[in-house]
Amino acid sequence: MSVSSPPDVNFWFDKRCARAFWSQCELPPYRELLAHTTDWMAPTRGERWLDLGCGSGQLTRALWDHSEGQVASVVAVDCAAANDDAIALLRKSLTPQPSPERVSFQQVDFSHGLPAFADGTFDGIVSGLSIQYAQHYNDAEGRWTTQAYDGILAEARRVLRPGGRFVFSVNVPDPGWLRVAFHGIPGFFRTTKPLKFFRNSMRMLRYGSWLKQEAARGRFHYLPADTIRAKLVAAGFERIEHRVSYARQAFLFRAYRPG
Ligand SMILES: C[S@@+](CC[C@H](N)C(=O)[O-])C[C@H]1O[C@@H](n2cnc3c(N)ncnc32)[C@H](O)[C@@H]1O
Repeated sequence: MSVSSPPDVNFWFDKRCARAFWSQCELPPYRELLAHTTDWMAPTRGERWLDLGCGSGQLTRALWDHSEGQVASVVAVDCAAANDDAIALLRKSLTPQPSPERVSFQQVDFSHGLPAFADGTFDGIVSGLSIQYAQHYNDAEGRWTTQAYDGILAEARRVLRPGGRFVFSVNVPDPGWLRVAFHGIPGFFRTTKPLKFFRNSMRMLRYGSWLKQEAARGRFHYLPADTIRAKLVAAGFERIEHRVSYARQAFLFRAYRPG
């Protein structure tokens, strides 16, 4: 696999990239992040949730399991159509097994906002290491901008009900993928499919170098915590808090729509 293609290729839409990240959940740093995120989501009976950039649906699973199947619904969205299969498989493995209406998948490119959802639709939104990949290129200025990143924060606020919460993780500036991989070594010894685990870990590292390269030229956004906090304030969020997680390679944020 080569990831040195024309600068505007977005591998996130590609089935191979989507599948490479399906194994991420076996990495101890990811398990740490999942535990921290689940703690801050605290989903309860009857709530409607959105999982932005759902990948294989680990956070969708956490919402279901943590509420003991009592959340009203989870809409899992991702730009990669391949993740539809992952969510279908996930649905079959959940207890109690939800209907396709209660745990659903929609292919959405959040760089263009969330037009499929009306104002105030959700009680909570979760997003794991995803919104940093919102991309916008300004043709007139010939450069990548943070317009889509700012846009997805504003859209998250719009589709939350007043008082609703947004829990999301993003990578720290210049993330150390090797540090994540190093902390992931125990996962290699625990997995039942070590070869698949190793192959996907290598793929993740290679996609990781593409992601860092694109972040360096402003297409993707590994921002300092203060910058993210300021953007959340500008988007109209309040009660903003954050912590570090994922072997110190990610920030986890929680913020509320005033209401
Ligand atoms: C690092 S993976 C995280 C997946 C999942 N949230 C998890 O915690 O395992 C990033 C995810 O963001 C999705 N993504 C990237 N850019 C996107 C976009 N513009 N619109 C929707 N999803 C996007 C990718 O397809 C991928 O599934």
